[in-house]
Amino acid sequence: MKNRRPSTRDLRSPVGTEKRPVPAGNLRFPAGVPFVDLGLQHREIGASLAAAIKQVVEKGDFILGSQTGDFEKEFAAYLGVKHCVGVGTGSDALHLALRALGVGAGHEVIVPAMTFAATAFGVCHAGARPVFVDVSDQGCGLDPGRIEAALTRKTRAILPVHLYGFPAAMDAILDLARRKRLFVVEDACQAHGALYKGRRAGALGDAAAFSFFPSKNLGAMGDGGMVAASSDEAASRVRLLRNYGQPAKYVHESVGYNSRLDTVQSAILRLKLSRLDRWNAQRRRAAGLYRKLLASCPVTLPEPLEGTEPVYHVFTLLSERRDDLQAFLKAAGIGTGLHYDKPLHLQRCFQDMGHAPGDFPVAERVARQTLSLPMFPGITEEQVRAVATRIRRFFAVR
Ligand SMILES: Cc1ncc(COP(=O)(O)O)c(C=O)c1O
Repeated sequence: MKNRRPSTRDLRSPVGTEKRPVPAGNLRFPAGVPFVDLGLQHREIGASLAAAIKQVVEKGDFILGSQTGDFEKEFAAYLGVKHCVGVGTGSDALHLALRALGVGAGHEVIVPAMTFAATAFGVCHAGARPVFVDVSDQGCGLDPGRIEAALTRKTRAILPVHLYGFPAAMDAILDLARRKRLFVVEDACQAHGALYKGRRAGALGDAAAFSFFPSKNLGAMGDGGMVAASSDEAASRVRLLRNYGQPAKYVHESVGYNSRLDTVQSAILRLKLSRLDRWNAQRRRAAGLYRKLLASCPVTLPEPLEGTEPVYHVFTLLSERRDDLQAFLKAAGIGTGLHYDKPLHLQRCFQDMGHAPGDFPVAERVARQTLSLPMFPGITEEQVRAVATRIRRFFAVR
């Protein structure tokens, strides 16, 4: 049985669901491996998807319909938070969460220098100023030891990002925020389902923002976002702001926005939420296999903080030969990504802040070295092995 030739079924099953390990020597490698394959999850929910959409179409409650309210309650229960409020995008979730907490003009918010630009844009759209702080060695989140030096009398909030699905160092951040009377707004846009000491990312601070961009761990079929909040006041403020500032039709208490999570997207997200833990487990198993197969390569693999369970929105490694490695993988038909190849303080949109290369050395090194490998629910053992084999070949590791 040991050298049994793998059947087509073995090769196609998602990592970790195989009955027996597939012997590496027998693998016929796939022609290429995509960076992300969303088709797999959509085929899995295919029949229920059509029924869920049909139900919304028949009811016709496209804006703030019953499925949006149901999804908000289910996602709040999943996270273990008091309130969830569906909004148009993850970017809006960040902006509206900050505004709902009273963060705005004249205030500063601590933001990691290495994150997706939308984290900092949320601060700018709220009228406040992002203040960048360097990240910890792996690039996964704010370095809590560096935050205090960046605080001023204007600082109102800290905005940790659970980057790549790795929970940030929340105990230290929450402790500092409590001592300095600052809000903590989590950017959990890449961390649906991640655990920090048994609690969900997004349930740890005063408020959190989630994105449902299609490729996220919980992704819609279009844009979508969610604010999670512990206080009744912040949640009702977001509810007001997302819907033209209206507590009742044509009564406008604030200059609000039109930023609501569609009913159709909510129906789709409800279907996917029931599968999220299973899909995250598939990502974790694929990450475990990458870790094992790449252990002897001269690369740095991401290390979760103690007591955390990441959800591997992306699987990144750091390599001094990143560009050559990426080109080598591309030539083999293997898709990769760069998250992110320029830190925020060096982006043109923030040049007014007067930063220069060298200001945040860890973020700059991560930007030069980071490479994200194929990762998605349903990725097969064969696909992970194919990627790892190419990387080992690149480094001449046997
Ligand atoms: C870390 C982070 N913050 C914010 C966002 C913004 O979310 P959205 O694209 O839904 O506006 C994203 C996603 O793209 C993200 O990855």
